[in-house]
Amino acid sequence: MADPLAAFFQDHETIRPRLRAFEKALDAAMNRERAEAAERTVFRETLVFVRTAVFEHLRREDRALLPTLEAKIGRFGTLVNVIAYDHDEIRREVGKLGEAIAALEAKADDPHRAELREVNRHGIFLVQYLGLHMAKEDAFLGGEARIALGEDGLRDVARRLEERG
Ligand SMILES: [Fe+2]
Ligand SMILES: [Fe+2]
Repeated sequence: MADPLAAFFQDHETIRPRLRAFEKALDAAMNRERAEAAERTVFRETLVFVRTAVFEHLRREDRALLPTLEAKIGRFGTLVNVIAYDHDEIRREVGKLGEAIAALEAKADDPHRAELREVNRHGIFLVQYLGLHMAKEDAFLGGEARIALGEDGLRDVARRLEERG
C-alpha cells in the first residue's frame, strides 16, 4: 500500500509555489499602486487554481481523511475540528477574493487603487491562512495523526481516496 498521507503532503508542495507567485504579483502591483495586465493574469490564474486544485484537495481531506481520524480521536478538542473549520474559512475567503478580483477587472483600465487594495487584503489573508493551515497539517499528519490512525486507519484512508478517484 502506498502511503496515503503522502498524497496530501505532495498536494501542499504543489500549492506553495502558486501562493508565492501570487504574493509576488500582489507586492509588485501594490508597490506601484496599479495592477498591470501580467499581474491581473496571475490573480485570475491563482483564483482558478484555488477553486479547482485547492478545493479538490480540501474535499479529499474532508471525505477521505477526516472521517477516519474522527473515528480514532474524536472531533471536538482535536485537530479534526480545527482542520474542518479552516477548510470552511478558506472557502469563504476565496469567495471574497473572487469578488475583489472581479471588481478590479471591471476597472482594469482606470485608476483602481481601492480595488487593488481589497484584492491585496483578501489575497494576503489567504496566502497566510492557507500557508499556516498546511504547516499545521504537515506537522499533525507526520506525527500524532499517523500514530492515531495506525495501520488499519491508514488503509481506510487509502481506500476512501481510491473510491473518489
Ligand atoms: Fe486541509
Ligand atoms: Fe491539506
